Amino acid sequence: MTDRQFEEGTTLDRFLMETMRATPGATGHFVNLCQSVALAGKMISARVNRAGLAGLLGETGEVNIQGEFVQKLDRYANDTFIRALEHRGHTAMVVSEEEAEPVLVPSRFQSGRYVVTVDPLDGSSNIDVNATIGTIFGVFRRLTDEGTNADLTDVLRPGDEIVAAGYIVYGSGTLLVLGTELGVNGFTLDPTVGEFFLSHPNIRIPKGKTYSCNEAYSLQWPEPTQAWLRRCKEQGWRARYIGSLVADFHRNLLKGGVFLYPATPKSPEGKLRLLYEAFPLAYLAERAGGAATDGRGRILDRVAQSLHDRTPLFIGDPDAVDALTQS
Ligand code: AHG
Ligand code: MN
Ligand code: MN
Repeated sequence: MTDRQFEEGTTLDRFLMETMRATPGATGHFVNLCQSVALAGKMISARVNRAGLAGLLGETGEVNIQGEFVQKLDRYANDTFIRALEHRGHTAMVVSEEEAEPVLVPSRFQSGRYVVTVDPLDGSSNIDVNATIGTIFGVFRRLTDEGTNADLTDVLRPGDEIVAAGYIVYGSGTLLVLGTELGVNGFTLDPTVGEFFLSHPNIRIPKGKTYSCNEAYSLQWPEPTQAWLRRCKEQGWRARYIGSLVADFHRNLLKGGVFLYPATPKSPEGKLRLLYEAFPLAYLAERAGGAATDGRGRILDRVAQSLHDRTPLFIGDPDAVDALTQS
């Protein structure tokens, strides 16, 4: 892809098609994958907007692999996302927060060249209070031969091998943010038309003095991280934290700032998950001029050892991430 500039108001489909045409060797599978993600986003958005009327508030009674109570919308979002991806021949396997094991595309469908990781509904604790939640996804091109079943080797690999990532936020509006090697672009859903339109072309994270963290845990953080926080306060920073990673990250991406979720004694590896929370957002942050580390090194240099690995996360403004990583 070259220096093609897209105007605001361009539909997601047109953006994808024109991008594909300008990408040597592109076959259309990635376009199809993005269209499937967009469809899932529209369906989940519709449910989120009327969850209180559709009997979709509250828990299912199940506990997921993370030991968390599964909300009805977690289940709906998970099933919708997988169903949208499974049948168009672009995807071989999905790794989801809500699934203990990787989900292979059923054999009645053609398997594809991509493996997708997903947090179907991020910010579950905010569902029942109508606060912003979202879907986070990352895309790997599979390593194994397309004639065979995909397996763990297709996802237990360096984050740097992600080829695309994104998220959909269900807030005052529904926005799909898509990152590829060509940059990061945001598309707002016009629910009256049922289409995503380019609203935030070529997103670059601006400078901003906002931190997003669960400050209630700060006394449990490593002392250098606490010291960093004290310096921020002395320097007149402000705080914003809703408790949905995707919403907090999104705000910082557009307005400037840093999100941090350090390790604590209760979560010595951190709380957030590497494959479907940290990797996709780290990919987006870097392509938007930001940075992401686990406090020691770059997130995208990490290699997942198992599907549901956790990590401390420092992400957003590159200078703040740098200060937190050295702290
Ligand atoms: P999920 O809803 O997918 O399980 O993720 C919840 C995560 C993340 O969205 C958020 O940043 C974090 O949990 C909030 O944790 P605290 O309540 O500990 O602040
Ligand atoms: Mn999450
Ligand atoms: Mn989730």
